[in-house]
Amino acid sequence: MSTQQPANLSPRGPVLVPGGAGYIGAHFVRVLERLKVPVVVLDNLSTGHRESVKATFEQVDLGDRAALAGVFQRHKPVAVVHFAAKCYVGESVTEPAKYYRENVIHTWNLLEEMRAHACRDIVFSSTAATYGEPRTVPIPSDHPQNPINPYGRTKLHMEHMMQDYGHAYGMRTAALRYFNAAGCMPEEGLGEDHEPETHIIPLVLGVALGRRKSIAIFGGDWPTRDGTCVRDYIHVEDLADAHVRALTKLQGGTSAIACNLGTGNGYTVKELVELARKVTGHAIPVEVVARRAGDPAQLVADGAKAKELLGWTPKRSGLEQILKDAWSFMQKHPRGYAGD
Ligand code: UFG
Repeated sequence: MSTQQPANLSPRGPVLVPGGAGYIGAHFVRVLERLKVPVVVLDNLSTGHRESVKATFEQVDLGDRAALAGVFQRHKPVAVVHFAAKCYVGESVTEPAKYYRENVIHTWNLLEEMRAHACRDIVFSSTAATYGEPRTVPIPSDHPQNPINPYGRTKLHMEHMMQDYGHAYGMRTAALRYFNAAGCMPEEGLGEDHEPETHIIPLVLGVALGRRKSIAIFGGDWPTRDGTCVRDYIHVEDLADAHVRALTKLQGGTSAIACNLGTGNGYTVKELVELARKVTGHAIPVEVVARRAGDPAQLVADGAKAKELLGWTPKRSGLEQILKDAWSFMQKHPRGYAGD
């Protein structure tokens, strides 16, 4: 399967990718490499995997300003695509300090080093969690942003910080609000490998793999077609392609972009499990348990703005394809990257 070719991305120097050893970042880096764009990955490896990176690599924490300045001096990046962040809603409620430090303060460090080194283009990972409980579904990109947990609030702070830096200092910024990132590029040896894992697809496939006996479905009494939550699953290769397009736009002079990245198709948890049974050929027992605090009933993107601004539509994000890709990686790497 080939990545859609966006309009020419030919930066005059390397693209710096904080968080490029993480799940989504590593996929983006591999897509950039396919496009022969020079790239430098920066990651503290707190959750990322060194094994997933072939590109030039700097093990640096964004909290270390001196080390970060050294990276800018050595590599002279012309743009930044920023994936480094903490991303667990539940953890953000119990440990907000970690989220404000790693997501907000570390992003401020990054923006300051960009400013100091005249690097003005940044694309970064925002999230559907910045909307909070949606008033309308599908959720348009101009829906009010009222996050309901610290994770969503830190991501909204990041968006605001970038807008302000854009107005005051001429930085060009793209906030890409992901819905449920999923799938992988097993043909590149890339997959999803979190410890602990909280995301539904690797958990469901883990049951098929025999790692656990059943999957707990959080709530069977939601106001949806079968009582389970509806989500919009978007393939990481499609996310990567949208980042390439956003960066191309910024480099071409566009000053600010903010849009959803989703498919517009919602699946219930039960529908997802049923499809996973079909893809894996395993029974996958389920147990319906209490709702998980903080889960909205439905999150589905209205993707019109990404299509209009970036010319982007998802290509690999059918849920069956997502499950096939994730299953392929998990079968080849049953213990994740560490087992290689
Ligand atoms: N779910 C279960 N059982 C599980 C795990 C998840 O039923 O063991 C359900 C959840 O309740 C939810 C759906 O499966 O309805 C998807 O849950 P995930 O944990 O995979 O993903 P979330 O929708 O909670 O989170 C995603 C991103 C977050 C982002 C959020 C936006 O991973 O980073 O969307 O609200 F903040």
